[in-house]
Amino acid sequence: MAILVTGGAGYIGSHTVVELLNTGYDVIVLDNFVNSNPEALNRIQQITGKEITFYKVNLLDKKSLTEIFAENQIEAVIHFAGLKAVGESVEKPLYYYQNNISGTLVLSKVMKEFGVKKMVFSSSATVYGTADSVPLNEDTPLGATNPYGWSKLMLEQIFKDLYVSDNEWSIALLRYFNPVGAHESGLIGENPNGIPNNLTPYITQVAVGKLDKLRVFGNDYDTKDGTGVRDYIHVVDLAKGHLKALDKVLTNNLVDAYNLGTGEGYSVLDIIKTFEKVTELNIPYEITERRAGDIAVSYADPTKAKQELEWKAERSLEDMLRDSWNWQQKNKNGYEN
Ligand code: NAD
Ligand code: UFG
Repeated sequence: MAILVTGGAGYIGSHTVVELLNTGYDVIVLDNFVNSNPEALNRIQQITGKEITFYKVNLLDKKSLTEIFAENQIEAVIHFAGLKAVGESVEKPLYYYQNNISGTLVLSKVMKEFGVKKMVFSSSATVYGTADSVPLNEDTPLGATNPYGWSKLMLEQIFKDLYVSDNEWSIALLRYFNPVGAHESGLIGENPNGIPNNLTPYITQVAVGKLDKLRVFGNDYDTKDGTGVRDYIHVVDLAKGHLKALDKVLTNNLVDAYNLGTGEGYSVLDIIKTFEKVTELNIPYEITERRAGDIAVSYADPTKAKQELEWKAERSLEDMLRDSWNWQQKNKNGYEN
């Protein structure tokens, strides 16, 4: 029996595939490389010494998806495939809804046809919308402020409805906080297209000389130093959380949401200072206007994942930033080298 990983060539997917292979699972990866590079799959095989069955397929292609389920004995699906750029989702809502929602509906229909009803789904802390009391626990009221966020929130609802209709389904909705870092080998990591939107890849690209300086988006938030506070989590800890969630769905029937975060909030200035400390480099930055749509503070209450999945994040902020830098230094142009 195998685990199908959609989006397995992507940032979080590739780290999860490594953990699955190292734990002894047979893994099948499906990806269309809309936001990733096939080289990631070679690197996974280099790290693990194991083979992956791979299909270059778009989730929306029901015929090809059906063939994958017919050719393989699939026990469960870890579903990462989706588009994730908030700003782009505002410009291209139909593209985002089609890819993320229709793609997931096609996948779920094929799973149902083959009687595969176990799934681990990539949700996001974005489903807490503009909630202003922290820490965020799974009972915090939900909301969304952009099409990307709505796509995650709607999919969570669709899975809850599916379970009501047939409680043989078992689906873990994993609400990730801010994934950063890379595998300690420096062979796989985050590979953003163009100029990064996210803080840590932006900093590592400044450090490696690809970008001039960081812009800190606002220092007038109601936080300890005025800059935005987030719950950064090492991508390897996050990947390990997927294996715990997989155990849960394989042995229970439920649809339930779990926060995957550390429970610690760090400001933008904390990140710059810690990066400078672990790398002994200087990161030039300037304070600019707030970025539209940003919230002041977001961090998790990770108690439920600890109690119900027996998972907690173990890597420190230093580990995250050291590993991000190791990956960036070894791969100045990501997988394009
Ligand atoms: P990523 O872009 O690196 O990985 C997503 C992968 O899915 C890519 O390899 C892409 O090519 C593939 N994909 C997208 N649409 C597809 C389709 N229609 N058919 C086949 N493959 C397709 O992103 P990531 O950071 O690894 O995120 C994985 C998941 O986690 C996404 O669903 C994302 O929304 C969610 N998430 C990410 C973050 C984050 O900050 N990275 C935070 C919360 C949630
Ligand atoms: N920031 C800067 N300068 C930059 C980039 C970011 O100051 O160049 C700041 C932001 O204002 C924020 C913090 O750094 O305070 C983190 O920003 P990121 O863009 O790295 O992460 P976000 O928390 O804004 O976004 C993440 C995911 C989104 C998801 C969102 C809510 O990238 O996909 O969390 O869950 F929607």
